[in-house]
Amino acid sequence: MNDRIKDVQLLTPNEQMRPEGLIHGVPGGYTTPLSNCRIMYFPKIHDPAGNLTFIEGGNHIPFDIARTYYLYDVPGGSSRGSHAHKGLHQVLIAMSGSFDVVLDDGTHQTRYHLNRSYCGLYICPMIWRRLENFSSGSVCMVLASQTYDEADYIRDYDEFRQAALGK
Ligand code: TYD
Repeated sequence: MNDRIKDVQLLTPNEQMRPEGLIHGVPGGYTTPLSNCRIMYFPKIHDPAGNLTFIEGGNHIPFDIARTYYLYDVPGGSSRGSHAHKGLHQVLIAMSGSFDVVLDDGTHQTRYHLNRSYCGLYICPMIWRRLENFSSGSVCMVLASQTYDEADYIRDYDEFRQAALGK
């Protein structure tokens, strides 16, 4: 055991995927597809010389990582996303700065503010997402379960809502 490792927050994938306390903004706390989406905490190694966080495939992420990409140089006032994915699982991380992520399952919406590089927001398939309020110099890193495939996108909100609600 590395004796420099202190205050490491290690959660097993099962613990990270536990639904308790992770239902946001739903009166009565009943389960909706949004409750599959959640904040995950990654290990953080505190060091006076600078903190370190690591993410291991097969350990900290509830899918096999096929792709990583990042958004940066986002102009103030811009929004990104505004689409859903049919089958893609993602984890979004504010590597630097902050931004908001609004998730929508066709019925309910939840807004997350991401501003910690040791936290990720897991987004399951069939969730509409919009990213906004990017701070200056912010970087959004995305871990994704598939390589890029435009056919996996739903870019029309009405089409998404019909599919999400089974209509
Ligand atoms: P998009 O996913 O719509 O961006 P955002 O959700 O951040 O607003 O992608 C924007 C463009 O980049 C689009 O033309 C597809 C392309 N792209 C790739 O070629 N590969 C990728 O991995 C991603 C995420 C996007």
